[in-house]
Amino acid sequence: MKKYLFLFIASLFLASAAFAADSQIWDAMRVQNILGYGQEGTLKLGQLFVMLQANYFAQVYLAVLVGVPAVFVLHYLVLGPKIFSHDGKKIYAFSLYSRVVHQIAAISFLVLVPTGFIMMFGSYFGGGSFVIMMKDLHGLATIAFGIVIVPMFLVWLKDMFLHLDDIKWLMILGGYMHKGKKVVPAGKFNAGQKTWYWMATLGGMVMILTGAAMYFLDFNIAMVNEITGLSQIDLLRVSAILHAVIGLGITALFFVHIYMAVFAIKGAIHSIITGYKEEDEVKHLHSSWYKKLKKQGKI
Ligand code: HEM
Repeated sequence: MKKYLFLFIASLFLASAAFAADSQIWDAMRVQNILGYGQEGTLKLGQLFVMLQANYFAQVYLAVLVGVPAVFVLHYLVLGPKIFSHDGKKIYAFSLYSRVVHQIAAISFLVLVPTGFIMMFGSYFGGGSFVIMMKDLHGLATIAFGIVIVPMFLVWLKDMFLHLDDIKWLMILGGYMHKGKKVVPAGKFNAGQKTWYWMATLGGMVMILTGAAMYFLDFNIAMVNEITGLSQIDLLRVSAILHAVIGLGITALFFVHIYMAVFAIKGAIHSIITGYKEEDEVKHLHSSWYKKLKKQGKI
């Protein structure tokens, strides 16, 4: 199965490379099909895009950059982290395959998020070659993320569908509004983790597609233009809007993910390196999964 998946992904990349090599997406050809401002068909989304770009995107991103970490500092100071015993038994949770895929995604995000911010606030970084270098790094990290996104989607898919536990978990906000440990209803993944999974994988796919559209500018795929009824420039505007809106959600949840893995649950980060979680943590935070493993005699 994994062999076929690898072959499938490799052939997708080869096909894209062949398409890129054969198309007119380089140099002066890049903008050949983009109609000049004011030409018929160019302005359908122009005003919306300019309004969002001028008044909202950078401002809301800045609010997330400052606001989300500020809430975490407050949470950490008032309610403190959840501390689980690291001396007890360990439970094997993540296979080597899922860990490698996840680690590549993590590294690529640690590049994608800061370089994305630098591009958005490029003028404050002096513009020029530094910002262009960040743009290239953003593109390279996208390739790494693009390689692992489908394997990551598939490896966790079966555990990520909605369950009754998720509603109960959401009603008590996962127990994160209380000090200390509490048994909360959740399977192998809780509702918060599932939300992150869907956002990172499906949202990530939209980010890759819209990012590629903006990178190649003049991909001029007639079929896409015909189906959507949009001119090339409006397709780029849609891409820019989707990239900014979904990127905002992903960035906010990525901050949450790092806070949970590194600060809120002490030592949780080890699980993506070793594959093992602490029994004490599973017993409290993934109680339904814990009961299931006990019943199956796996603990
Ligand atoms: C520095 C970056 C990252 C760190 C430190 C980190 C850490 C972790 C840890 C510790 C877990 C296990 C949580 C548990 O089961 O209790 C986990 C799970 C997971 N990670 Fe990450 N991760 C990072 C980046 C990413 C990225 C970039 C993605 C996706 C694009 C991602 C997607 C997931 C998903 C879907 C899960 C399973 C559900 C969940 O626990 O949220 N992670 N990560």
